[in-house]
Amino acid sequence: MENEFEYSEDTKNILGLHLPTDPRWVDLAGISLKDILTDHAYCEQKAATSCISLIQGFADKEKIVTELAPIVTEEWGHFRLVLQELHKRNLQLGKQRKDEYVNRLITFMKKGGSPNERLLDQLLMMALIEARSCERFKRLSEGLNDEYMRKFYRRFMESEAGHYTLFIDLAETYLPKEKVRTRWHEWLEYEAGVIKGLEVRGDRVH
Ligand SMILES: [Fe+2]
Ligand SMILES: [Fe+2]
Repeated sequence: MENEFEYSEDTKNILGLHLPTDPRWVDLAGISLKDILTDHAYCEQKAATSCISLIQGFADKEKIVTELAPIVTEEWGHFRLVLQELHKRNLQLGKQRKDEYVNRLITFMKKGGSPNERLLDQLLMMALIEARSCERFKRLSEGLNDEYMRKFYRRFMESEAGHYTLFIDLAETYLPKEKVRTRWHEWLEYEAGVIKGLEVRGDRVH
């Protein structure tokens, strides 16, 4: 995976995101590293459980089952890496916080519709979360003062970039490409609005 990730010159174009992260965020995150680690640990947990839910909800779709099964393991591995990092610092996992970013994304999902339409929104929302996480990890991997932590986040950045493309690819397996593209652009636009509307704070990954 390591060599598959291409660095973009222009952060704005990373993974198609319409709005780059506010540059102040990485400085704030560096100050609240404990909170970032806790929030990050839960992000990884949620990524694993979302994949499990997709496998359960779309068990008749072979590609979903086979492609997402190893991602569950990978995301859970990410969770354990972050947990290990907390423990190294004599910190505990702590409580999960309200995930305002994800909650706002969920409201954009179409209600009703066919199972395939629901699948489309679920996959695109997951792709988007991966893309934004990847962008944030890139920021951390470039902007933190601690070299060890810069390397730590670089590893996550590379994996989440691979996940982002996998979810888009899965969407194109089950739905017409044109439909995927149109809806993806709607999601990107909506997400930019969400990011714009959220307070810039260093204790959250998103
Ligand atoms: Fe992950
Ligand atoms: Fe991921």
